[in-house]
Amino acid sequence: MFKIAVLVSGGGTNLQSVIDNVKSGKLDCTIEAVIGDRKCYGVTRAVKAGVQGYIFDRKILKKDLCRAIDKVVSERGVDLIVLAGFLSIIDEEFVNKWKKKIINIHPSLLPKYGGPGMYGIKVHEAVIANKEKESGCTVHYVDTGVDSGEIIKQVKVPVFKDDTAEILQKRVLVQEHRLLPESIEKIIKESKGVC
Ligand code: GRF
Repeated sequence: MFKIAVLVSGGGTNLQSVIDNVKSGKLDCTIEAVIGDRKCYGVTRAVKAGVQGYIFDRKILKKDLCRAIDKVVSERGVDLIVLAGFLSIIDEEFVNKWKKKIINIHPSLLPKYGGPGMYGIKVHEAVIANKEKESGCTVHYVDTGVDSGEIIKQVKVPVFKDDTAEILQKRVLVQEHRLLPESIEKIIKESKGVC
């Protein structure tokens, strides 16, 4: 069975969509661990769903955060590490060890509105400020840059004239909840040689 781990820092609505898709049988994998880099509702969601949750406080662990994560995902034999609203930077050693086995979801149409400082509501504020007509979300492999890895899947959403950043954020988030499970499904199928 394909095994995944999910890394979170916040509310974990994307994690929830993965949990729901695993429970319904749409995603043919197990969630071996959910790891938070701080106390957050995402880890609570995991525990409520009967998934093993860990909190590795980034402020305490500092440079050892990735080593702690690596220990868990290695011991659990994880095939794919999913960053779902994970705010700590993953170090180069970890990325190189887990090449093509780490994916991230980002709330814009990368390569637009990605990179350092582009996270959360800031992404949507920038989209609105530039009067873009469309935005969306992207799932991509993680490389040693920020939001720069190979794109796996994207979904577009319209931006309307009266949108606020918060309204746009909600519209994008609805699509994220579809896109992340679909991207994981694509990777699972590829691992089985079914495309
Ligand atoms: C999402 O917008 C995701 O694209 C970004 O962080 C947010 C996490 O939201 N990387 P949630 O914690 O899954 O609700």
